[in-house]
Amino acid sequence: MGIGWLEVTVAAFVLTVVSGAFLARGSNWLEPRFWKGFAIGGSLVMFTLLWILTFDTLKKISMGSERVPSPTVINHKIGYEYNADRRMYVPVIGEEEPFFGKKWSEEEAYRLITKGKLVIQSRNCMDCHTLLGNGAYYAPDLTKAWLDPKWETMIKPMLKVETREEAIATWLMNTDKYPTWTRRMPNLGLSKEEAQAVVAYLKFMSAIDTNGFPDHFGKTASK
Ligand code: HEC
Repeated sequence: MGIGWLEVTVAAFVLTVVSGAFLARGSNWLEPRFWKGFAIGGSLVMFTLLWILTFDTLKKISMGSERVPSPTVINHKIGYEYNADRRMYVPVIGEEEPFFGKKWSEEEAYRLITKGKLVIQSRNCMDCHTLLGNGAYYAPDLTKAWLDPKWETMIKPMLKVETREEAIATWLMNTDKYPTWTRRMPNLGLSKEEAQAVVAYLKFMSAIDTNGFPDHFGKTASK
């Protein structure tokens, strides 16, 4: 059986009562000592719980865990399919496909994705966009941007390029020339290497299982 929020809440409550009762033993409920026992017991239990949950979260958000793929995911096709059991869209990692014409080793892929993250931080893309829900709401959320159907249907034919990665990279370097929305994205002067790294980061991020976030994206993406 998996340990979910309900088990954790019940366990924290029981432990608080048990440790409180132990610390307050022998005192009457009208005495301050009684309540002090529960306050100390509760604080100790919650501090321990926070500590455990922090490490549990770190494990769950690291690359190569159940929901966050390893960097080599950029060598694979990424699909987005409705999962009837979970009642949400989930990324599906498919067969291998070259990324910018080659297969990237784990080390190379990690370096490229990390560079993409640094480019995104250096240009403050979050001033306008959200990534995994963090940032501003001026422009679309970028968590699943790699899966946006517009790259295949609109941008690829318009730029006359062969692959989706080239389409996104070229578009990112020429946002002022090819607006696709009522709000415009400024040209942030990305070099070719920077644009490719950003695309790797976006592809990696789209493969993260985010419990269907952003909501309703799947309906557009699977059309
Ligand atoms: C000043 C605000 C602003 C900043 C800063 C900004 N963008 Fe944008 N971005 C936009 C707007 C507006 C759009 C929609 C414009 C369009 O599609 O022509 C957009 C669209 C996009 C798209 C297409 C999303 C999709 O699925 O349609 C991507 C990818 C993107 N931006 C990446 C970035 C990256 C990477 C950075 C940082 C290097 C960045 N943006 C910085 C405003 C911004």
